[in-house]
Amino acid sequence: MLRHRRPRGRLLPLAVAVILAAPLATAGSLSAFVDDEDGGELDPAKRHLRAPHDVSFEITDDDRLLAAGEDWAEVLFPRLDAEFPGRFSFDDDAEVWSDNRGEYVWDDDEEVYWQNVSAETLTRGRQDYVQFCASCHGLDGDGYGRSAQALRPPPRDFSQGLFKFTKVSPDYLPSDDALVHLIQEGLDGTPMFPWDVAEPRLRDVVQYIKSMSPEDEGWRDSTNDFGDPIDVGEDPWVGDIPAAVAEGERLYHANGCYNCHPGYLGAVAINAIQDKPADTAFRENITIPKRVEDSSYEVLGESVDIMVPDFTWHTMRRGRTPQDVARTIKAGIQGAGMPTWETFPDKTIWAIAHYVRHLTDEYHGQPAKRAAFMADVRAGH
Ligand code: HEC
Ligand code: HEC
Repeated sequence: MLRHRRPRGRLLPLAVAVILAAPLATAGSLSAFVDDEDGGELDPAKRHLRAPHDVSFEITDDDRLLAAGEDWAEVLFPRLDAEFPGRFSFDDDAEVWSDNRGEYVWDDDEEVYWQNVSAETLTRGRQDYVQFCASCHGLDGDGYGRSAQALRPPPRDFSQGLFKFTKVSPDYLPSDDALVHLIQEGLDGTPMFPWDVAEPRLRDVVQYIKSMSPEDEGWRDSTNDFGDPIDVGEDPWVGDIPAAVAEGERLYHANGCYNCHPGYLGAVAINAIQDKPADTAFRENITIPKRVEDSSYEVLGESVDIMVPDFTWHTMRRGRTPQDVARTIKAGIQGAGMPTWETFPDKTIWAIAHYVRHLTDEYHGQPAKRAAFMADVRAGH
């Protein structure tokens, strides 16, 4: 039986926020921090380069995080089995996987696998987290690190379990791989850099981030399951991109993307596409994107405004290839109000992706050409 609960849109109760703000149960100190590149203790004179002075890194207790529901077990365990031959076996009668290292354990009552994440893994993850991520995401993952106060978009609050750009269906939490790839690629045009940290270390950081889920939420909620970035198949428009762009233009305006993003056609053209009376009116200036004022993304419990991108002006956050854009469109953007278009045929999604990318290719970084194009659009309204 499949049970999914959408993490989307859940607001963090104040009480939980207060508990989270309390320091994590950690021990040890900066002097225990070993630089793994030279294997020795960090030069005390250089400490300030690495982390705040009075921060502890060591986590003393193992943690138990949700590893897989029935859907995801079919993906996760064969994958891990290929990576560590002989470690996993499938019991045909019981229909469960067993892990001879005992890290992944089937729970009969809740019918999910839990993962025992060791204190050593979490400590390693926290070390890199404090060094690389905490200045923005906060020492306790509340998204309110020292540099975060002035950052827009704000860094993610990891206690919310909400993600925008993992390209995973909103029915699922992102898989470890989806998170690792996102961290490696970064979010273009935001302070979230592409992090070139060795992958095994990033995997530990990801475990640590997952361990920031509040009780019964995110990776502690047994009704959740996981997914990889959504599949959009092969590009069906190869060899005929101009046709894809033309069809994408129609679909973009037929499906109301301009209700948040700008519209890039005049009112007459949009009304014709939508079979509406020619004099149906739109917002005053359709070339200015709408502002999302009630997003689920929070800074210290307050929802933040989100700017909706104009494709002739902004860069794409998470990849510019048509496939990247198609995946983002199909998966939607959780918590930001951008719906998922999972029910659309892939050919439709690809056409819209080609159109959106065409807008970027034609006008991004070309102010004069863009201004003329946008003036034309406005004249048509
Ligand atoms: C300079 C500030 C900064 C640093 C340092 C930083 N981030 Fe971020 N991060 C951000 C911002 C800002 C966002 C939100 C961007 C947005 O919403 O468009 C973000 C978003 C994220 C997201 C969520 C993406 C999504 O799909 O919603 C993850 C995961 C993440 N960061 C992980 C990390 C990790 C891991 C590190 C350390 C290796 C790190 N970040 C370091 C600023 C930072
Ligand atoms: C209800 C409002 C809304 C609608 C409708 C909407 N979007 Fe969005 N979209 C957003 C918001 C908000 C963002 C930016 C999220 C952020 O940066 O935090 C966004 C971002 C995007 C991005 C940028 C992704 C990236 O990597 O930077 C693409 C592409 C996109 N939308 C395509 C579409 C398409 C195509 C449609 C119509 C099929 C559509 N959107 C409909 C609100 C909307």
